[in-house]
Amino acid sequence: MSKAEKKVYVGMAADIIHEGHINIIAEARKLGYLIVGVLTDEAIASYKRIPFTPYKHRKAIVENLKGVEEVVPQETLDYVPNLQKIKPDILVHGDDWKTGIQKKTRQRAIDALNKWNGKLVEPKYTEGVSSTQLIEALKERGITPDMRLKSLRLMLSVKPVLRVMEAHNGITGLIVEKTKVHKDGGIREFDALWLSSLTVSTSKGKPDTEVVDFYSRFQTIEEILEVTTKPIIVDGDTGGEIEHFQFNVRTMERLGVSAVIIEDKIGLKRNSLFGTDVVQEQDSIEHFSEKIHTGKNALVTNDFMIFARIESLILNNGMDDALKRAKAYISAGADGIMIHSKKKDGQEIIDFCKNFKKFEKRVPLVVVPSTFSHLTIDDFEKLGVQIVIYGNHLIRSAYPSMVQTAESILKYDRCLEASDEYCMSIKDVLTLIPGNK
Ligand code: SPV
Ligand code: MG
Repeated sequence: MSKAEKKVYVGMAADIIHEGHINIIAEARKLGYLIVGVLTDEAIASYKRIPFTPYKHRKAIVENLKGVEEVVPQETLDYVPNLQKIKPDILVHGDDWKTGIQKKTRQRAIDALNKWNGKLVEPKYTEGVSSTQLIEALKERGITPDMRLKSLRLMLSVKPVLRVMEAHNGITGLIVEKTKVHKDGGIREFDALWLSSLTVSTSKGKPDTEVVDFYSRFQTIEEILEVTTKPIIVDGDTGGEIEHFQFNVRTMERLGVSAVIIEDKIGLKRNSLFGTDVVQEQDSIEHFSEKIHTGKNALVTNDFMIFARIESLILNNGMDDALKRAKAYISAGADGIMIHSKKKDGQEIIDFCKNFKKFEKRVPLVVVPSTFSHLTIDDFEKLGVQIVIYGNHLIRSAYPSMVQTAESILKYDRCLEASDEYCMSIKDVLTLIPGNK
């Protein structure tokens, strides 16, 4: 770079390169020596989905685009840290960020540039093409089982904590797939789906006692796989007999499920949230470790994960037992640990997490805050939890509406009141699912 040249900075994710990127680079290079900040995988995952292409490859692609002199990592969605480091004379960004969710990010960049008299140049945004649109189009086409299977591990490697929501059929799968809110300059959505034994059983009018067996569960998984692209974590109950578990993990792996969580209980399984109100027996460490080990050995890939769920706190067997089991299950090959509790204050979960943090050999930690529901994602992130599962909320919210509707129809002996008060319009039902028309 010569002394007379101006330093120009452009930041981009460059996940799916399109005309818009080329246009912005073409404009920027006219202004001086062009440095491109490519967003790291962690930076992208912090405000939208995980990237399709890892940073290393995106960097190599951008380095080879005409006019790019240097590529540096941009570690946050926020431009300020790189701007302060590089102190460019000019920042170039498409004018699309003047409005909408990026407005604040823009203002922060302007404030930083003002400190050294840096200028912001905003070429007109290239209409009709955006990565988000391209990605939506790709998503409409679906995802291969192999890509879906791998995606959970990928997410765990780039996101500090994952938000996982239960689904028990196609429509709830779609809700988890599509629900988004705009928050903190980014888009917040669920990262993965939890196939809860409780909600799948409940939706079938059956108890949560493994009576809805793996064969039925596979059908639900298929139904959800068909209409979603996000990774799936299956609630595998106790995993059943070791001899059967090894077949069932292979089926899930083949379908493109990313992980199964099995709990260290034996005999007739009852839902954990009953605690000691019902008879529930915890498995021995040896037998459960063998189940994990046998399951891991049966797998074809290194991608599918088996998580061990510890029921010591549910069954009042104490913190020491829970911690001892966590160590043993990790040694047996568990890819993650789920710790469960039914106490409302969350204190025993907090204590477990603090102890778990000190482990030499750690794996991702999972919680299901059905009772300790006041704790936030932020709280869990600080505790080192990597997966937070909202275990039953879609069925719990749908059911009361359905009962109200049924009661209203009986009460008025017509459906007018129910349709007006509790139901979505028929038009909305018809347009809810693409392809209905
Ligand atoms: C489920 O969702 O089925 C679970 C979590 O296993 S819990 O219901 O809390 O036991
Ligand atoms: Mg369950």
